[in-house]
Formats: sequence, structure tokens, C-alpha cells
Amino acid sequence: MNKQIVILPGDGIGKEIMDAAVRVLQAIAENFNHQFTFSEHLIGGAAIDGEQSPLPETTIHACKKADAVLLGAVGGEKWDALPGDKRPEKGLLGIRKELGLFANLRPIKAFTPLLHASPLKEEIVAGSNILIVRELTGGLYFGEPKKRIPEENAVVDTLYYTRTEIEQIVDKAFQTARTRKKRVTSVDKANVLESSRMWREVVEEKSKQYPDIAVDHLLVDAAAMKLITNPKQFDVIVTENMFGDILSDEASVLTGSLGMLPSASVRTDGVGLYEPVHGSAPDIAGKGIANPLGMILSASSMLRQSFGMEQEADEIEYAVETTLEQGYHTPDLSIKNGTVVGTKQMTEIILGNLATNDASQCICNS
Ligand code: NAD
Ligand code: IPM
Ligand code: MN
Repeated sequence: MNKQIVILPGDGIGKEIMDAAVRVLQAIAENFNHQFTFSEHLIGGAAIDGEQSPLPETTIHACKKADAVLLGAVGGEKWDALPGDKRPEKGLLGIRKELGLFANLRPIKAFTPLLHASPLKEEIVAGSNILIVRELTGGLYFGEPKKRIPEENAVVDTLYYTRTEIEQIVDKAFQTARTRKKRVTSVDKANVLESSRMWREVVEEKSKQYPDIAVDHLLVDAAAMKLITNPKQFDVIVTENMFGDILSDEASVLTGSLGMLPSASVRTDGVGLYEPVHGSAPDIAGKGIANPLGMILSASSMLRQSFGMEQEADEIEYAVETTLEQGYHTPDLSIKNGTVVGTKQMTEIILGNLATNDASQCICNS
């Protein structure tokens, strides 16, 4: 197959991890006789420096024409003093909105060699397998007004949802649950927020269309606690934009590192954007030690979800699993009797495993 992939490395460790993902995709293209064409564009701080905008028109145009988009990470101290609408993060929020990517799918599954890497007890982590379905283009992030009110010495952010927006993300969660263990937990703050009360109503209504899916509701504060005391109770979690942002970083603890988590930002049809859950990690940027696995697994998710390349995606996941089983890991993780390697070495080892592995052995098939 012939595919046009836009890459947006962004800032901090974004470029380091994007290099790793592109090398893995090039190896897959070669092994499976595909043609992947990569075109790199600016976003975030890099785009502010180069084009005086966190999201240049040329970037939006290229993403809209692409078969899929891969994004590294944006942000950094250099741009922290800029006003809200000029910050690097505005570029990321903007491209999600421009492409209509209302659903952010964040799978959280611990690889067996990393069960010790989590600060949580192994028996709590083992067997947990969660998908957070985060609403991505509404809620507190996008509602207006969002501003300072100098005459009142006050400030306002707005949590705004249309019923249709809630319905489409809840539908996505139910549909995805059909491909998994058929359980949806809706997380809200319905004891306080009117938006959550409408959210709950919509979940109840929609659940009638999905009688095969079990549904429950949890308040977000309790959900935060249960995620780390009994993560195995969850299958699909569907939640509002900001709750999903916070809960997914928390849930990453199950996997041993935030650097492990991939994500897919998608709409009902059309171009998808694939991005790790973590940020630009300024504290380790430029040191060559960033964990590339969240980015590489995002690339594998792109192959599976945007291109229907199941076997190719399995190959990548199996190569990652094998590499961890061999004990190789970046410094953010720990493996008993393992070997600490940098980003480039980790990538080389994955490429070596890609060349020799038989992906039919992968747990991704179980
Ligand atoms: P962060 O996710 O960048 O880092 C949090 C911690 O996790 C840091 O200690 C970091 O070193 C570690 N970490 C993250 N990814 C890692 C990886 N791949 N390998 C090893 N360690 C990793 O969050 P932060 O420090 O709060 O934010 C830094 C900047 O990133 C901010 O400007 C923020 O706005 C931005 N950010 C961007 C995205 C994105 O682009 N998707 C996501 C989150 C934060
Ligand atoms: C994420 C990030 C972004 C978000 C920021 C950088 C805008 O934290 O992708 O999780 O909050 O969506
Ligand atoms: Mn986040």
C-alpha cells in the first residue's frame, strides 16, 4: 500500500521519539512492501520559532490531505510566558479541533516484564487492561468564555458541551466496548456539575441501544482512587476531556512509565492523529534517554486503525514485547536484571527483533 504520513515531531523529546517511530515504520514498509511517504511539518514551540504561530496553515493543510498524522509532543519552558492562545499547546489543541478528532483512545496495558516497574503491587497490576475513551474537542478545554475579567479581578473557563457532542463520544465508547470485555464505566462529577448530569443522562439513554454492554457510573474522585486500588474492575472508561487527561496520566503508573502510553485521536471517519500520552519531557530532552515506546506503539496503532494493517501492527507490538522480555529498557523503567539503554539503542534492538520475530506469538493476539 501507498500511504502519505505527516509527521509533527514538535518540541523537547518529540524529535527523538519521532525518529525512532519513523525508523520502525520504514522497516515495516520494507518488510511488507509498502510505500510510506513521510512529510515533516511544524507545530508547537518549533512552529512559533519558525513561523510565529503554534499551528501554521501549511501544517493544517498537510494534515487534512494526509492518510494519517503522527505527533511527538509540544511545549517547553521557553514558551511558557506566552499568552494562552499563542502557546505551543494551542497548536496541539488546534490541530485536534481542525481535524474534528473528538475521541482520544488511550489503552493502558502492562507488559509482563514491566509488572515490577510499577510502584503498585504486582498482583494489583497484573491482568489489568483498560481503554480510556477521552472526549477531546469540547468541555473545559474549548468552552467560551475563557478569559481574565480585569474589572472584577476574576477569571473564567467554561465547561460547555452540546448533547450531540456527548452522544458521539458515548457512542464511540459503546462501540469500542463491543470489541473488548463489553463493560463501560462512565466517569463524571454528577454530584456537582450540570454538564455531568447531562452526560449521565446521555449514557443511560444510549445504553438502551447497546443492551449487550454493561454500564456503570463513577464519580471522578472515586474513579481516581479505584484506578490504582483495583484497576482490573475497568474495561472501557468514557469521560470528559479534562477528567480523561488527568486519569490517563494516573493510569500510566500501571504500565511502569508515562513513556509507555500510546494514543489514537480519531473521528468517525477521515484522518486520524496518533500521539503518545506524555509531553515534551523538558527535564530529559536532548539527553538521548527518552522512552520511545509510547510513540512507537502510537505508530502501530496508526497502522491498525487508519490503514487496516493488522499484521504489521502485531509485528511492532511483538517486537516491543520481545525487547522488554530481553530486559532492555530506558531509565524511566526498571526490569529485574535488565539492561538500561538510550532511545537510539532501544530502537536498534526493536528493529533487530522486527527482523527476526514471528508475530503470531504476540500477546497482542490474545
Ligand atoms: P511530561 O509528560 O512532559 O513529563 C512528565 C514526566 O514524565 C517527566 O518527568 C518526564 O521526564 C517523564 N516522561 C514523559 N515522557 C517520557 C518518556 N517518553 N520517556 C521517559 N520519561 C518521560 O509532562 P510535563 O513535564 O508536565 O510537561 C512538559 C511540557 O509538555 C509542558 O509544556 C506541557 O504542556 C507539555 N505536554 C505536552 C503534551 C503533548 O504534546 N501531547 C502532553 C503533556 C504535556
Ligand atoms: C495531553 C496533553 C495536552 C492535553 C496538553 C499539552 C494540551 O496533556 O495530550 O494529554 O491536555 O490534552
Ligand atoms: Mn495530558
